Parts: sequence; structure tokens; C-alpha cells
Amino acid sequence: MTKHELKELLNSLTLKEKIGQMFQALPHIFGEDGAITGIFDENVETDDIIATVGSILNMYDTERMKKLQEQHLKYSKIPLLFMNDIIHGFNTIFPISPALAATFNPRLIKETARITAKESAAFGINVTFSPMVDISRDARWGRVCEGYGEDTYLSSICSKSMVEGYQGESLQNDDTIAACVKHFALYGAPYDGRDYNNVDMSERMMRNDYLPPYKAAVDANVAMIMTAFNTINGTPATINHHTNVDILRDEWGFDGVSITDYGSAKMCLSAGVVDNHTETAQLLIENKVDIDMMGGVYGLKYLGEAVKSGTVSIEQIDECVMRILKLKNKLGLFENPYKYFKGSDSISESERVNHRAIARQSVSESSTLVKNDDSLLPIAKDKKVAFIGPFVEKNDLTTHWAQIHGEREIGLYINEAVNSFPELKGEYSYSIGCPYLSDDKELSEKPENPCENNAKLYEKEAIEQAKKADTIVMLMGEPHELFGESGSRTEITIPEVQMALLRKINEVNKNIVVVLFNGRPLVLSELSELAKSIIISWYPGSQGYLGICDMLFGYTSPSGRLPFSFPRKSGQVPLFYSNIATGHDHPEGQFHKYVLRYIDTLNSPLYPFGYGLSYTEFEYSNLSLSSSTLKRGEKITVSIDVENIGNHDGFETVQLYIRDVKSRLVARPLKELKAFEKKFIKSGEKKTVKFEIAEEMLKFYDKDCKFNAENGEFIVYIGSHSLDDSNSANFELV
Ligand code: GLC
Repeated sequence: MTKHELKELLNSLTLKEKIGQMFQALPHIFGEDGAITGIFDENVETDDIIATVGSILNMYDTERMKKLQEQHLKYSKIPLLFMNDIIHGFNTIFPISPALAATFNPRLIKETARITAKESAAFGINVTFSPMVDISRDARWGRVCEGYGEDTYLSSICSKSMVEGYQGESLQNDDTIAACVKHFALYGAPYDGRDYNNVDMSERMMRNDYLPPYKAAVDANVAMIMTAFNTINGTPATINHHTNVDILRDEWGFDGVSITDYGSAKMCLSAGVVDNHTETAQLLIENKVDIDMMGGVYGLKYLGEAVKSGTVSIEQIDECVMRILKLKNKLGLFENPYKYFKGSDSISESERVNHRAIARQSVSESSTLVKNDDSLLPIAKDKKVAFIGPFVEKNDLTTHWAQIHGEREIGLYINEAVNSFPELKGEYSYSIGCPYLSDDKELSEKPENPCENNAKLYEKEAIEQAKKADTIVMLMGEPHELFGESGSRTEITIPEVQMALLRKINEVNKNIVVVLFNGRPLVLSELSELAKSIIISWYPGSQGYLGICDMLFGYTSPSGRLPFSFPRKSGQVPLFYSNIATGHDHPEGQFHKYVLRYIDTLNSPLYPFGYGLSYTEFEYSNLSLSSSTLKRGEKITVSIDVENIGNHDGFETVQLYIRDVKSRLVARPLKELKAFEKKFIKSGEKKTVKFEIAEEMLKFYDKDCKFNAENGEFIVYIGSHSLDDSNSANFELV
């Protein structure tokens, strides 16, 4: 449709039809099936809804979706939008977001989103509520499993890559879908780590650390944005004019569609910040929020009342509806409301094989080897290996967002994966050993207990197998019921029943590899004492165990680097590497009483942001700057040699951090990641890696909250992780 035709269409709509476009309903309201992802509100208006509703969320049945579209179009000229939470893959399930961040591979991350878009579009889905780019530095928060880690720069790169992958060259294409970046804003910073709780944050920290990943999505032309449940400095994000209008619309120029998170509009009343839902409707409109997801505020009862009372004008309504119509037009739905229903058969088997290959590659690129004493890994192909742990009985290494629909491919069990490698001539045993949890009474969703009531028997069998094995591979970690939405924990540890088993196994055999499944950074201090090798695999998706066997037996090397700092103790969180300098900073290890420290643990994480080993070793040398003076508007080049001095080929992620040594009245972080390059380097080979440093990299929101770079001294560090200070150089901005 042309702009003029859209305008004519808008003018032809009744108020009821206009407001209908602004409401998003669960399929249950039409008597259909789907995923309920929030508190089901019985009170939303349903009369004439099939004729007026604008979009449906989380319906997962192509034929029923098509029929609903057909029914709707008997009454309306405007096609429905189908929006779903497709967070880490649709048919092909990829590693969860923190794991994708751990790849430090934007091209791979973008490719996973492109594949997801293709598979989702064929099914009939137009929009995904992804990427979620909430920075979080508090691993108690259950939804760190959906974001891209603690770092602003890495999360921004991931945000851009995901949006570009989903949306491709054009939304007119029938294998791209609209992305919806979320949750705007600051959802990942609840002040006590509990989901949905309030966020209190200075303008400067918000702008320097937490907003850039959302802006990266806006700069990548993301089609939609979702407001967050939390309040920001006391005002609900859903009606926070400063973020929604001053920053998002006016400063960043976002002209896409804004949608509330599930029911968050009505929660303004329970937060005690409005008198009634009619006032909320007025505030939502003033915040330029276009769609109310299952909130019931955008209906004739409240929004219609606001129009009647004159607190909301038709022009304001028209502005919101026009943004929705433009999105539907960009997707090509007016020309063909069924273009997204090509069906799964429209994806060839050879394409699906490629999708699985990318998913399998992403397992080793996202898994992080954090310990490998005695080079216990990789395991020779003729060894006796005992696989032990509750994850032995699991083949679905995905999380709740993939499990809310039945379209995902389920992976292999570990024994099936091992058996799929004909070259493996060893002896392999598989023992569950223990349940996931010993005490799950607080959980609303409880993990199945693979040991039924014979825990002792299962334990005994596991220990017997451990005694006979050359190497033990523990498959253990955090069941997905312990993280995700409303899944916050005070102790971010591996369930005690699993640690108890690990201790007993360690008593009979020290050659222990742990493959960890986790949704958040966990405290691995004791585990790191009990295992010789540790691979952190997060939730690796539907190619999980194939990718894990690739690594265990040396077909690939894990090349992930941690997107989070892993603490020594739960009490260290919030924990992140880019700490702002204080007057009490102090080199770790030299005792002083009056310095920045904990009495009962070191300041440093057990494993730092950016950290990861591989089956080979890399040596850095010859760091050099093209100049020690950076003139404004110009660039300098920093280069370093990286040599693979080990016996295996492998990937190294070369990371560039910068410290702004002094800034006017505002203390700056000790280090900030500003660039990285993942390089494949063969054994014995040396590569020179170059980065450009430009003024833009040095800008920050200064004491007046102006985005500036100040003249003065900077330090550039290039290394293999955030605590690696072995190669640095100083330069001056003039
Ligand atoms: C949920 C989540 C949000 C999701 C939405 C729709 O409450 O907060 O991330 O996209 O509802 O399912």
C-alpha cells in the first residue's frame, strides 16, 4: 500500500476499529490454544473481537492461525499480526542468548537469527519478541538466561546482529520477520535481583551502560520495542515519558511500534501511580505506546472513555494506529495476508541439514572451557568413559521459551550422540547418579526426578561405573526450572544433591570432566576443586549433545569466552569487570585493611568476563600503536601478534579494552571492552591483529550528561580476557 492508501484506510476506520488495532490478544480469547506467558486477565473486552483485534500472541498452530486470519478478514480490511516469543530458535534450537554472546562471533549470531526467521515465517509468525538485550550484572535475576551478558559493547553487537538476522534486507521478503527489542528499559537491574522489582539508576549509568544495546537495535531499524515491567526511578517503564518519548522517540528517532509487556499497563494502578485505567490509557498514548499486550487498557471501556472525556484526541490515536498499519504494510500483509503461511515443507531437507550444522557449530563456539588440568580434554577415542549426572537422561537441552511450543527439534540423548560417532571405539557407560534437585517445594514448575525414589541405587551404580572408568564426564548443572522469568535465586549454586554426588565420584576417581548446563553465572568454587576440566555450555539447544561430543573427543575445541563474570560466592553479585574507579582500589593479593574489598573473599571473580581456554595455547606479543597521540576526528591503529604455540588449531578471541584514566569529576571504569576479533589460528601459526581507535570509542556521558570524549590520557589493553593486563599501551587524546 502507498502512504496515501494507508491514510485513506486509517480515515475509513471507526474508533472501535482503531482501538482494536491497539489491542493484542491471547488465542484463548477466541477459544484457540497457545502459550499463556503471564497472568490471564479475564476482564479484557471481547465483543466483536474477531472483527477488530489487531494482533495475536503466542499461537502455535499454522492451520488454526490461517483460519483465524480468514475469519478475521471477513469483517476487517486489516490483516492480523501473529507475534511469538521465538527467543533462541524455532524448529532448530540454538544455544541460549548468553551462550550466543559467548561465541563473540557476530556473523554466527546473525546467522542463527536468519535461520530462526526463515523457520518462523514459514510457520506463519510475523514478529518475534526478540532480541532481549537487558544488561544484567546480577546473576540472582532469573532472566540473565535471555540476555547477552554484563557488557554494554558485547550486548550491543549481539543486539544489532540479531535484528539484522531476523529482519534481513527487507521485511517484504517472505523469509524475514520483524524483531521486537525488549524490555525497554533497564529490566535487568532490579535493585535486589528479584524479577519485576524496581530499578533506581542515575541518568549517567543508564546512558553509559544500560541503554546502548536498545539503541543498537533502533539503529539497526528494529521494527518494534517492548516496554518493561519494572519502574525506572519510581515510574513504571510502560508510562515513563523520559525513556519512551524524550529518549526513544525524540532523541533516537525511533518510529516503529511500541508494545507493552504482558499486562504491564494495568499494573500501573497496582503500583499506585495512577487513579484508574482510563488515566493509564491517556498516559500510554502520551508515551506513544501503540499496542497493549493482553492488558485491557486499550479498549472502549478505558481508552474509549479517555477519548470521550477529551483527555485523548483522535489524532493521538491515529498516530499509534498508523505505526501499526505501517508495520503490517512493511510485512506485505495487505498484498498477501497469507504470505507467511508457506508451511514447514517450504524449507528443504538440505536447508534443514544446514540449519542443524550451524546449530551444532554454535555449541562448541558458545561453550567455554574454563579449566583443563593434565589436558584431560580432549578424550582419546579408545578410553573408558563414564557419563554421570541427571542430564544423562535429558535430550531436550532447551529452555522454557523453546518448550512452550511443540515445533522444536528434540536433540539426542548423550548415549545416542556418542553412538553416532563410528570412530569412537572406547567403552561408554551412562548413569544418572542423582536427581536434579533434592528440595523443590518452592518451585511452581518442578523438574522431573529421574531417580524416582531409588536415589541410593542410582548413586551406587554411578560410583561403580566411576571406579572402572579412565575418565568421568559429569553432565550436571541448573535445571531450567531454576531460572527464567520470575526465577530469581539468592544462592546461585549448583543444586546440593548434584555436588554431593560429585564429591563421592571425586573420592574414587580424580579424572573428572564437568559439562555444565546453566542459565546464569553460578558459583563454581568447589566444583573447580573437584574437577580437572570444566566446560560451561549453558543450554546448548537441539544439537546439544552432538556438539558436546565434538568437543569432548577433539573434533572441535570449545572457543567460547564468558559473557559474564562468574563469582566466587553468591554475595559478590552484582559483579562485573567494568567497575568504576574508586579512591580505595587496591591490587589483589597485597593485604591492606582500608581498601575496597570483602573480608571473606577476593574481589576478583572465579572466572572473569571474556575468559576461556582452548585445547591449544596462544601467546601475545609486539603490541604497538601507530601513534601515542590521537587527534580529534582522526584514528590510530593498535596491533598485536598472536601466536598459536600449542598442538591444536583453534580460535582465539582477541579483546581490546580501554581505560579513560582521568575525566572531569566523573570516575570512569577501570576497563571497558571496545572491540574484539575472533581469529582461527593454526598450530604454529602467528597472526597480526589490528584495531582502529577513534574518538567515538572514547565518548561517554560526562558530568553534565553530555556525550563527549575528554582530552587526556588513555590506556589500551589487548588480551584474552578482562583481567589480562599483560599487553597495554598509553595514548593521549588531544
Ligand atoms: C512475558 C515476558 C516477555 C514476553 C511476553 C509475551 O511476560 O516478560 O519477555 O515477550 O510476556 O510472552
